[in-house]
Amino acid sequence: MALFSPDTDIFCERDALREDYQPEEIVGRDQELQQYVSALQPVINGDQPANIFLYGKAGVGKTACTRYLLHELKDDAAEFNVDLTTIRTNCEDLSTSYQVAIQLINDLRDPEDHLQPTGYPRRQVNQWLWEELDGIGGTIIIVFDEVDHIEDDSILYQIPRARANGNLEHSKVGIIGISNDFKFRETLSSKVQSSLCEKELQFPAYNANELRDILRQRADIAFYDSVVPHEVIAKCAAFGAKDAGDARQSLDLLMEAGDVAVERDADQVTVKHVDEARELLERSRIVDGVAGLTQQGHLVLYALVMLHEEGETPTRARAIQDRYEIVCDRAAVEPLVPRRMRDHLGELSMLGIATREERNKGESGGRYYEYSLDTNPDLLLEALDETVDMVGVTDAIQKRLDHDI
Ligand SMILES: Nc1ncnc2c1ncn2[C@@H]1O[C@H](COP(=O)(O)OP(=O)(O)O)[C@@H](O)[C@H]1O
Ligand SMILES: [Mg+2]
Repeated sequence: MALFSPDTDIFCERDALREDYQPEEIVGRDQELQQYVSALQPVINGDQPANIFLYGKAGVGKTACTRYLLHELKDDAAEFNVDLTTIRTNCEDLSTSYQVAIQLINDLRDPEDHLQPTGYPRRQVNQWLWEELDGIGGTIIIVFDEVDHIEDDSILYQIPRARANGNLEHSKVGIIGISNDFKFRETLSSKVQSSLCEKELQFPAYNANELRDILRQRADIAFYDSVVPHEVIAKCAAFGAKDAGDARQSLDLLMEAGDVAVERDADQVTVKHVDEARELLERSRIVDGVAGLTQQGHLVLYALVMLHEEGETPTRARAIQDRYEIVCDRAAVEPLVPRRMRDHLGELSMLGIATREERNKGESGGRYYEYSLDTNPDLLLEALDETVDMVGVTDAIQKRLDHDI
């Protein structure tokens, strides 16, 4: 018997649930697409394209809609004899305008003429970029996806001005900047803001109905007929809507639920499989999150778990500091000063392990934060097992550990 054999009862195209799969149709974004289309209208008129800034939380379809529309735009441009080139750059691994320029040049050049990542004077790199862009001619749209990863904004300033500054003669270039982080807009210098954000588009989070439509569309491609009943779609959608209105999260959950069904040798995906899948995803999120923390991060987290088990949360950083110092003492580790300890609390809330809420002091004014745990403590204690061994347990922690067995 073969050790590996295709399991064909559940998935017919599992890859359709992956993030990099591009759906042929976009569902439930009619209004946003309409705004996007009108922002791109100058392209079809053969005019200078507007620069567009698109923002919205993770998983709300920014990348998918942009890819979809640019594809349509290219088709229509060909029909109306508009000379259009589109370039998409993901800035996730790029942190400076210099790196972005090199990447753009290499995208446009033949492999044998590619530049090295470093070692050229900045002016020279810019010069090469203008030569490449001007050599194309016509209209060029450059998409900077995850643009907030670029720390200096000079390229976002220079490209829109290139024509006015005499650097481009034959090409009209427009930029589409995409960001998960609306605050990024405020970090831009005002001259970049006014040029990059000529047209601003915002994509809101998805509600459960919209997520259901997206999931259904994708499930029909990924799974065999009648493998995914309505209630499974509804459950994955409800989960995504409750958390962040994030389509990616819901699609991941559906894929994992499918994997569970395959593993169980089932002939349908069930609601129970979705529950199991959620637990698996939650577990790996926590295990990965905790594994990525430093030892100090582990000690801060353990102090917070202790307070949670004692019913002392939400609580202020000061109370956590007191407990954390005891924990450090037990671990024979030098404690951090409160400021640094608070940085770790901030990191925990960024990871979604803890939550941080701002409170007002009332009459006397002033604000402070309260922290609580936002994660299943059993999973955390499992992920923290080395710290628990090193520090030892309190009564409340022992009680939970006993309960678990
Ligand atoms: N309106 C939609 N219709 C179909 N699929 C969608 C839609 N919105 C998002 N998706 C899918 O959800 C996933 C996440 O969307 P993506 O565009 O990558 O989000 P963002 O770029 O906003 O983080 C992708 O697999 C994408 O194809
Ligand atoms: Mg994206």
